[in-house]
Amino acid sequence: MAKINDNFIKIPATYLFSEIAKRVENYKAANPQADIIRMGIGDVTRPLPKAAVEALKAAADKQLTSATFRGYGPEQGYDFLRETIVKNDYEPLGIKLDTDEVFVSDGAKSDTGNIGDILSRDNIIAVTDPVYPVYVDTNVMAGRGGNLAADGKWSNIQYLPCLPENGFEPQLPKGKIDVVYLCYPNNPTGTTLTTAQLKKWVDYALENDVLILFDAAYKAFITESDVPHSIYEIDGAKECAIEFCSFSKTAGFTGTRCGYTVVPKELKATAENGEKIALNRLWNRRQTTKFNGTAYVIQRAAEAVYSPEGKRQVQESIDYYMNNARIIKNGLETAGYKVFGAVNAPYIWLKTPAGMKSWEFFDYLLTEKNIVGTPGVGFGPSGEGFLRLTAFGSTENTLRAVERLKK
Ligand code: MLT
Repeated sequence: MAKINDNFIKIPATYLFSEIAKRVENYKAANPQADIIRMGIGDVTRPLPKAAVEALKAAADKQLTSATFRGYGPEQGYDFLRETIVKNDYEPLGIKLDTDEVFVSDGAKSDTGNIGDILSRDNIIAVTDPVYPVYVDTNVMAGRGGNLAADGKWSNIQYLPCLPENGFEPQLPKGKIDVVYLCYPNNPTGTTLTTAQLKKWVDYALENDVLILFDAAYKAFITESDVPHSIYEIDGAKECAIEFCSFSKTAGFTGTRCGYTVVPKELKATAENGEKIALNRLWNRRQTTKFNGTAYVIQRAAEAVYSPEGKRQVQESIDYYMNNARIIKNGLETAGYKVFGAVNAPYIWLKTPAGMKSWEFFDYLLTEKNIVGTPGVGFGPSGEGFLRLTAFGSTENTLRAVERLKK
């Protein structure tokens, strides 16, 4: 009989957001009249930018004639999109990239999960805590987790607590690590690192031969000037970091699926025989084998996000969500809650009142206020006693939710 990957029975049976969806569904089934406001998973509610939809439709029409029809595309993405990304997302920051350092994909979730394919099972992984659960779960699946202890930590993973006490700035690891995941602006806390704070990590990674996996999915929401939009704004980062980006939150592509990952050619890691190998080559090999590229029509839609109208429409949605974030932050602060984030990210991280546990507060909000949040402990042990709300709803629902929370 076939044997399973036993790591799958070590991890909790359900992914965080699937567990929440199940609980909400059950509640809804028992309480069909409940007027539920969803502020749990960070899913957008505004429609796609018109420019993207028009480009998608035009690309779909091209599939009707053999002269313009596209079959398999390049696994790494079409040059038209890779070039557009380099020109718009990196050149204005003074960052030079070749197009073959950019790999278009179906999103940052897949890429941050899949990147482990090119890394040894023996690597010691560090994560900020709380953290986007994909980083931990995928490492556990690959056998890098060890065992889950009673404190909610995996024995082989280093947790770097991010709490109000340290200003949500992860401290550099004490022991030896090989790989660290950093997500800034941060999911779930909504906080971020300044350029100087991120530089400490780049310097540390260069000195200690550590690979940084930098998730920049929320960079479009940055409002403050000393917050980097790319880790490559920092000298030396190309030698120690992979950067993951997404159109999901920026341009409403959560259902449309498109993202990209930058693997600089100077970035190397060590083979078992001690040889230094370029990760760009390995990721290219992985993608060409396991991925057939993002659909042509979707890549055309993503390209249109960078047109002048596309940029304007994207900015409108970002402003809309960040206005929601302000409404939540101000409303909750007025009501006496301790609130973090919401300035450079569409997430609000709040301390649960009266010492409630995260899941207890989640249940209370669901049943008493008909509001869905995400329990902080679902993101890691340091998230206990916190809850995350998203600003991705309609402003009308955001205002209604704040009124309910104030009562
Ligand atoms: C979240 O709510 O943390 C995100 O929407 C999940 C994701 O992007 O996969």
